[in-house]
Amino acid sequence: MTTILVLHGPNLNLLGTREPEVYGSDTLASINQRLGQMAEQNGVQLQTFQSNSEGEIVSRIQQAGAEQVDFIIINPAAYTHTSVAIRDAFLATRIPFIETHLSNVYAREEFRMNSYLSDLAIGVIGGFGKNSYLLAFEAAIIHCKQSVKKRAE
Ligand code: DQA
Repeated sequence: MTTILVLHGPNLNLLGTREPEVYGSDTLASINQRLGQMAEQNGVQLQTFQSNSEGEIVSRIQQAGAEQVDFIIINPAAYTHTSVAIRDAFLATRIPFIETHLSNVYAREEFRMNSYLSDLAIGVIGGFGKNSYLLAFEAAIIHCKQSVKKRAE
């Protein structure tokens, strides 16, 4: 069974109350719940993980590599703009991933326009609030189905 891991970075545990004018009013639990429904409908296994710690996120990516997780969706939050360690974890494990953001980082402060991950990602989806995750999940499912098909050919 295809396994997709959704990783949420720092401060995303505060969704719902954190700057709702930027990030919306949905909680992380409600986003994960919706992803769970989509996973069930599509016959894929969902894992979710949130951490405020860079090291824990790196370890979780390494663990996903060891467990042969098929795909990762990551909202690296502030670590998007700072983390060589998370970049190196993706380079080390080679797990395909989508970078996602609730807000449109290109319409905000200049420092948010730099990502240490975008050039390694299959794609980047941002600016759609909670729907950024749902769109990313749909894209991940399509990507995984295509990979299975290619392997069978
Ligand atoms: C974010 C954008 C980042 O710049 C910010 O640090 C976050 C959230 C987003 O989802 O829009 O914490 O990744």
